[in-house]
Amino acid sequence: MTLLAIETSCDETSAAVVRDGKVLCNIVASQIQLHAEYGGVVPELAAREHLKNFLPVAHAALDQAGVSSAQLDAVAATQGPGLGIALLVGFKAAQAVAFALNKPFIGINHHEAHLYSPWIAGQPPVADFSKFQPNVSLIVSGGHTLLVLVKSELQHRVLGGTIDDAAGECFDKTGKLMGLPYPAGPLIEQLAEQGNPAAHDFPRPLIHDASDDFSFSGLKTSVRYFIRDHSALLDDRKKVCDLCASVQAAIVEVLVKKTLRAAKRNGVRCVTASGGVTCNSTLRNEMTRACEREGFALHLAEKSLCTDNAAMIGILAERKLLAHVPPSLDEEIKPGWVLA
Ligand code: KG4
Ligand code: ZN
Repeated sequence: MTLLAIETSCDETSAAVVRDGKVLCNIVASQIQLHAEYGGVVPELAAREHLKNFLPVAHAALDQAGVSSAQLDAVAATQGPGLGIALLVGFKAAQAVAFALNKPFIGINHHEAHLYSPWIAGQPPVADFSKFQPNVSLIVSGGHTLLVLVKSELQHRVLGGTIDDAAGECFDKTGKLMGLPYPAGPLIEQLAEQGNPAAHDFPRPLIHDASDDFSFSGLKTSVRYFIRDHSALLDDRKKVCDLCASVQAAIVEVLVKKTLRAAKRNGVRCVTASGGVTCNSTLRNEMTRACEREGFALHLAEKSLCTDNAAMIGILAERKLLAHVPPSLDEEIKPGWVLA
C-alpha cells in the first residue's frame, strides 16, 4: 500500500510517502524562525505558512519518493489535536487530493501517531513492529505531556497527562525568563551541558503523587521567583548554565520516574517515548539508564522523528487501513481531539 501523509497540526508543514511500512520520503518544513520573534507559535502565521508550503512540500515528497500521484492508494492527514486553522489547511488540502484522485482518505489523531514513531528506525526508516510489546509511552512536547498504555497495536489507554503546562512549555517559559529565544528547550540543553544539575534544588511537581498526571507550572513559578531574587546571575554565564542544568534535571527526573512507575504498575516490560522534548540528551540518557537498571526494553523515537512529522501519520494510517478501519472523506478537523 502506498500512502501520502500530511501533518500541519502546529508549526511544521510535513508530507511523507509511506509504502508497506517503509518511509520512502519524509519532508518537514519547519517554521521555527518565523515564530521565534513572537516568543511562541502564532496560529494565523502558521496557517498562512502551511498554505504556502503545502504544494511544494507534497510535490517534493512524491518526487523524492519516486511515486506519482496515480500510484497512491490512500491519503492521510492529521485531524487533531492541534491549532484549528493550522490543521484546517493540511487536512482540507489532503482531502481535496484524495477526492481528486478518487482514493480513500483517513484522518489521524496526532498523539496516537506519536505512539508509533518510536518503532520507526533506520535509513530509509522502516516501521518494525516485529518486536512490538505492550508498552507505556511518554509523549512529551511543547503542547503535551502524556503517559499512554499501549496494550497492543491500535489499542491504547491514556494513563495521565499534564494538568497545566507541558514539559516543553516549561523549558520554553523558563528559558524566556532567562532571556533565551523561543523555543528555549534545545538552548537550555546546550547551556546545561556546562552546568551543575545539583546547583539548585527546584521542585519535582507530582513526583510522588499516586496519579500518572504531571504539573510543571509550579516549577516555572519557582524559577521565576528564583530569578527575581537573584537577577544578577543572568550576567554570569556559569550561573546561567547551573540554572539551566538544575531546571532540566528537575523536569527530566519527573518524566523518567513517572514513566517507569507507570510501566511497573501496568505490568509492561517496555517503555517508549517521542515528542520534541525527547530530543533532549539528558532525558534520553537518564531514561536509558533507568530502563537498563530496572530491566525495561526502551524504544526512543529517533531525534528526527521526535518532533512533528508526517512519517508517523502515514505509518499509523497504513496500519489502520490494513486493520480495516474505515476511511472517510467527509470528516472535519478535531482541534480538541483528546486521546482516550
Ligand atoms: O514536538 P514539538 O516539535 O512540537 C510540539 O510542541 O508539538 O516539540 C517542541 C518542544 C518545544 O517546547 C521545545 O523547546 C522542546 O520541544 N524541545 C526540547 C529540545 N528540543 C525540542 N526540549 C528540551 N531539550 C531539547 N533538546
Ligand atoms: Zn507532536
